[in-house]
Amino acid sequence: MERRRIPYRIELKGGKTYFWCRCGRSGTQPLCDGSHKGTGTEPLPYKSPVDLTVAFCGCKQTRNPPFCDGSHTHCAQITTQAV
Ligand code: FES
Repeated sequence: MERRRIPYRIELKGGKTYFWCRCGRSGTQPLCDGSHKGTGTEPLPYKSPVDLTVAFCGCKQTRNPPFCDGSHTHCAQITTQAV
């Protein structure tokens, strides 16, 4: 499972729907690449109302998906490498 202790800063386009990876298998984190097939997990769609820059969760422990809520500060044994 691909997780990291820091969020992903990404620029969203207004009106576009993004699919946040919930399973952690995607090779294009934090977004889904279809690798969840067969896991029983589906990505979380998020439609941005406007152009904006956000922090999407990378540790998959957020209580406010797809956004980082700081939960990564309590995660252990996950990578700290920037992607
Ligand atoms: S690859 Fe993880 S939810 Fe799609």
